[in-house]
Amino acid sequence: MSIAVTLAGGDPAALRAALLAVPLAAGAALPRSLARLDRATGGALGRAIAERDFRGARDETFVAYTKGRGPERVMLVGAGAGELTTASLGRAATLVGRKANGMGVGRVAFWCASGKKADVEQTVISVLLGAWEYRELKAKPSAAERRRPLESVVVAVSKVGADARAGLAAGKAIADGQAIARKLAMMPGNLCTPEFIAATAQDVAKRHGLKCTVRGRKEMQALGMNTFLAVAQGTPQDPKFITIEYKSGTGAPVCLVGKGLCFDTGGISIKPADRMEWMKFDMCGAAGVIGAMEAIARMKLKVNVVGLIGSTTNMPSGTAINPGDVVKSLCGKTVEIINTDAEGRLVLADVLTYAAREYKPRVIVDAATLTGAVVVALGSNATGVMANTQDVADELLAAGKRAGEPGWQLPQWAEYKEQLKSDVADLKNIGGRGGGTITAGLFLSEFVEGVAWGHLDIAGTAYTETDLGIIGRGPTGVPVRTFVEFARARQS
Ligand code: BES
Ligand code: MN
Ligand code: ZN
Repeated sequence: MSIAVTLAGGDPAALRAALLAVPLAAGAALPRSLARLDRATGGALGRAIAERDFRGARDETFVAYTKGRGPERVMLVGAGAGELTTASLGRAATLVGRKANGMGVGRVAFWCASGKKADVEQTVISVLLGAWEYRELKAKPSAAERRRPLESVVVAVSKVGADARAGLAAGKAIADGQAIARKLAMMPGNLCTPEFIAATAQDVAKRHGLKCTVRGRKEMQALGMNTFLAVAQGTPQDPKFITIEYKSGTGAPVCLVGKGLCFDTGGISIKPADRMEWMKFDMCGAAGVIGAMEAIARMKLKVNVVGLIGSTTNMPSGTAINPGDVVKSLCGKTVEIINTDAEGRLVLADVLTYAAREYKPRVIVDAATLTGAVVVALGSNATGVMANTQDVADELLAAGKRAGEPGWQLPQWAEYKEQLKSDVADLKNIGGRGGGTITAGLFLSEFVEGVAWGHLDIAGTAYTETDLGIIGRGPTGVPVRTFVEFARARQS
């Protein structure tokens, strides 16, 4: 959040920066507008392209030093085959953010020739996405080891206009929203507790004058949120049900709902120890809601949006729920809890019902690290998208595409519902081995009381266990931008 981002116009050869990055499509010549810059490098840029040292392949880079008063270094960044698009520009900018931060140059400029709103916005979000890191729990490096973290980003355009300014403001708002979400996600479970999530939501609300309500175990008992409480009954920490209301525009609100499991051990159906530590990321849906509320409020979107979060931990203990137990949800349906590790849907069930009843929304969209099955099906490159109407599914797919957070739709056919039938209750909380992501979605759909609803299973996309090249291991910022794009398109 502390990286300053500004705009600069004119010849980039005159820019003061430690590093100026120039994105180029595969096989593209150096644009004529950069002739002075090329001369400042003694012609190194033009030669690198002519000699094919630099071909413009995706993620390829070439660095040259300069003489004179302008940028100290120039980095050509490959954007891959085809025309330079907003998306390929973004990928190049993310790589630049990561490299500039790693190099310790402190001040980086990125050449965004068009100055178009979408391109400037994309550049800002992308550079900050690449530069983000979480160092707060590490010792300060010694003076000898210390490198300068990225301190400022200059988006260099041919001419600064209203378009570029608007892109800068929106880009910063979204990038800051993503940074909030990623920090929450990366923080370990002993620090990022339900209480901490609530405090973060309250902080966002306070800074933007939004109404934020936090309910604990007692208040949820009074409401009858029993499937949520069934998950929380094994933990001594107070579970938190959080609502944040952003009001602007007319009509019924859009509700954004997030799963906020600060740690998921599985409960009595306990998970294997190996890699269980990754379950600190089981609150990425909640983090996405908070990050989106930050961005939406900053952007002053003309739409009413309510964020709702169900936050707790899932623990095995003497008070924990047992397999086979039956609980009655807020909407009145009874659920047989076959597997206590299918806890996200139990938390969300009551939150979805609350959203539907309390806010009478136009649409509800939830995001949850809900199933391991979606990671098997789609890996880490696509979010699982499900909905109870095709319109909402299409809207979410389009929003994800614009956001650079692509989704892929999975069916919600009634045939799969058979798998959720219980001998003793209205529903079981798991649907067996096949189609685990689909049956989890169908389970949720039982609790939305007929409201138009969409669901993002972000278990594979919200964080990455392996370095993705441009983004390192850890949280990716998904689904903040998808939420923002969804809300943007719903403006009145
Ligand atoms: N939080 C997990 C889903 C998950 C698994 C996210 C792996 C990221 C990586 C969820 O609560 C869970 O445990 N789901 C179970 C459901 C099963 C018991 C039906 C799963 O996917 O194994
Ligand atoms: Mn689980
Ligand atoms: Zn979980």
